Amino acid sequence: MSKKITVVGTGYVGLIAAIGFADFGNQVIGVDIDKEKVDKLNAGIPPIYEHGIHDYLERNLKSKRLRFSSDIASSIIESEVIFIGVGTPPKDNGDVDLSQVENVINEICKNLNDYKVIVTKSTVPVGTNKWIKEYIKEKTNSDNFDVVSNPEFLREGKAITDFFHPDRVIIGYESEKSKEILKDVYRSLYLVETPFVWCNYETAELIKYANNAFLATKITFINQIANLSETIGADVNEVAKALGMDGRINSKFLHAGPGYGGSCFPKDTKALVQIGAKYGVNMSLVKEVINSNELQKIRMVKKLENVLGDLKDKCIAVLGLAFKSETDDMRESPAISIINELIKNNCKIKAHDPKALNNAKKLFGDKIIYCKDSLEAVKDADALILVTEWNEYRSLDLNNIAKLVKQKIIIDTRNMLSPKKVKELGFIYEGVGRK
Ligand code: UGA
Repeated sequence: MSKKITVVGTGYVGLIAAIGFADFGNQVIGVDIDKEKVDKLNAGIPPIYEHGIHDYLERNLKSKRLRFSSDIASSIIESEVIFIGVGTPPKDNGDVDLSQVENVINEICKNLNDYKVIVTKSTVPVGTNKWIKEYIKEKTNSDNFDVVSNPEFLREGKAITDFFHPDRVIIGYESEKSKEILKDVYRSLYLVETPFVWCNYETAELIKYANNAFLATKITFINQIANLSETIGADVNEVAKALGMDGRINSKFLHAGPGYGGSCFPKDTKALVQIGAKYGVNMSLVKEVINSNELQKIRMVKKLENVLGDLKDKCIAVLGLAFKSETDDMRESPAISIINELIKNNCKIKAHDPKALNNAKKLFGDKIIYCKDSLEAVKDADALILVTEWNEYRSLDLNNIAKLVKQKIIIDTRNMLSPKKVKELGFIYEGVGRK
């Protein structure tokens, strides 16, 4: 049976969930305090760049299964299931800022007119769902509700595909009634035999952090192996390929690069360390992953320095600003650390990205030059540094670039180009782990 659902928060997690649940046949209201965003969404304009989102948004708005509202109270009253998909950003000390989640919980307390299932999709520290349950009970003097933990595993850029084809769905629950309701909400996935992991709150909460921290560790591991490869004369791509052939390791997330970024890995690894500290358990491995990742970003600038010498007053073309391809998101992007380091060295920076230039302008203002394409960026550059693995950079017009640059130097932090071809054109080439 289809359900009446409110999803609070229309960021990556909330918006994709709202669209997805509507597409499954549920009746969904996406709620956000940002009225302008709500108007745009109701007009079919997605606030984020995400492959396929436009069509799904339009289709579900048209079917009238989906609408957006900034009236949280009436949306809660109308719905049986409330998903919380608001932000949980890190505080300065690495703790998770739960204030947005708390605001939603308070709204739910004020509007608990009937039985409801409150589902946490936002990534929240271990213990939060239990706390939510106790808090609502205490505030409303009612137990006519259930709390469920349902962490999200979407990747930016592949969010729609990930939502409709998840490897598994994790549900932390306590009551059978809420389990049956969640089965209805996810009926379409249930029917195609997507694996569901039914567990307690703490397990569900920890799975999310463990998942992201494991992937961050895998990347950091291959980055360290890359750094070693450079020194001893091995090729990290071949090492990674061979490791990936071992079914116990698997080939995914073994691409060496400039360090991981984004809104999740950096935040969730720090949060896991804090959660460990809170319970007196040393998360030393994850701590080292965080440190090593910071060093990896700066190592990319050191590579530049090794080839170019003193960086002072040099003109550097930075190709790629987003934290990965297929997104305009620059949160914790390695490009930020690299550019800041170059700015410290008084470099002139000419930057290009197919999607993230607007976000870059908000971050760097007039400190760097924004270019409409890669050719404009490389003109008169002393070196070119490739930071994001956009497909269009795989087929760079190197013949033309060779004519436009001041010095033929390429730092390829994503191992996208063929060193042989680049060197044939007279460039000095530095990849990651490819001596
Ligand atoms: C990540 C997880 O992959 C999702 O499962 C999770 O839902 C999400 O965080 C979240 O917690 O919300 P996302 O941040 O979109 O998704 O990005 P990823 O595709 O995982 O990439 C993260 C970073 O790792 C990027 O900077 C990427 O360039 C880097 N990376 C990834 C590598 O350097 N090497 C690799 O082999 C893979």
